[in-house]
Amino acid sequence: MIHARGLVATFVTGKGKSKREVRAVDGVDLDIAEGEVVGFLGPNGAGKTTTLRMLTTLLRPTAGTATVNGYDVTTESVQVRRSIGYVSQMGATFSQALAGDEVADHGQLYGMSRRDAVRRGKELFAQLQLDGLWDRMPKNMSGGQRRRLDIAMGLIHDPTLVFLDEPTTGLDPQARANLWEHISKLRTERGATVFLTTHYLDEADALSDRIMIIDNGRIVAADTPENLKSQVSGDLVHLEFGAGEPVARAAAQLESLGATEIRVDGVGVRARLRGSAKVVPGLLRELEASGNTIESIEIMRPTLDDVFLTLTGRSLRDAEAAADTEEMSDEISA
Ligand SMILES: Nc1ncnc2c1ncn2[C@@H]1O[C@H](COP(=O)(O)OP(=O)(O)OP(=O)(O)O)[C@@H](O)[C@H]1O
Ligand SMILES: [Mg+2]
Repeated sequence: MIHARGLVATFVTGKGKSKREVRAVDGVDLDIAEGEVVGFLGPNGAGKTTTLRMLTTLLRPTAGTATVNGYDVTTESVQVRRSIGYVSQMGATFSQALAGDEVADHGQLYGMSRRDAVRRGKELFAQLQLDGLWDRMPKNMSGGQRRRLDIAMGLIHDPTLVFLDEPTTGLDPQARANLWEHISKLRTERGATVFLTTHYLDEADALSDRIMIIDNGRIVAADTPENLKSQVSGDLVHLEFGAGEPVARAAAQLESLGATEIRVDGVGVRARLRGSAKVVPGLLRELEASGNTIESIEIMRPTLDDVFLTLTGRSLRDAEAAADTEEMSDEISA
């Protein structure tokens, strides 16, 4: 469905002496099969949007080749555009038209009849919870409503290949959950192929068959969420004891169990431990037998953020994971 080899995008910024070249995408290869939902993850400036713009023919690659739906992005850009849906990160720019008209016009651009475009548009408005907003001007909508309108525009012609650039940014949790469901249905009910970028790790994890992680313009990992997470060396185990307990003993025992990244802080100890479900019960019994009072135990399965950290030594900027992440980077640097 999508094949790219050695995609490169460079931009020249500044003038005169401050002129320099930004290599936004630096040799990207990718293969996406029909019916796959692929999540494209990476920090700000990693090259996600630039990659998508090349695949959707909005930007000519500096080097490399790509085909989308069997069409070459440089020599058959019209065919590529006709065969895809694209929701850009910025959203579409709107005239003074009413939202519904705008969406229906967009459908007609793709060759739909007015009637079909209106019918499908109204269906999408209902599914994306935009009821009652057909006759509203987009500029008078809330940010989250406009974002959902962008998505309706991108899907109006029922494309079987959809590119979504941060579709859920700015949506409230309920709208986000609703959109997740919609994206899942695109695949299950319409057999669509979806390529979406996101900063939300939980989103990529929940929606994607496969995840590609890009950093500094290069793909650093591409695999199923499960396989990616299994690359991280173990679960994060956090034990807390009553005041004055010999935490060091627990740390030593964890070490003897093969734990890594062991870190003692006050009354607690944290560590990475492979197969924690198997070994933690025994560890707890031993600690209790030797007189320790365990106040709490927490076991966290590796997240995609951990994967990114393992791969790049840096954390993905994910607001929700920010707290965990900070602790993690402390541990790595400790
Ligand atoms: N038109 C341009 N001119 C100059 N530099 C650009 C241009 N477009 C993108 N860049 C640079 O290319 C790099 C990659 O940008 P891109 O928008 O692809 O990142 P991204 O992964 O989508 O980030 P974000 O998560 O912030 O959306 C950045 O350093 C950006 O500043
Ligand atoms: Mg972007």
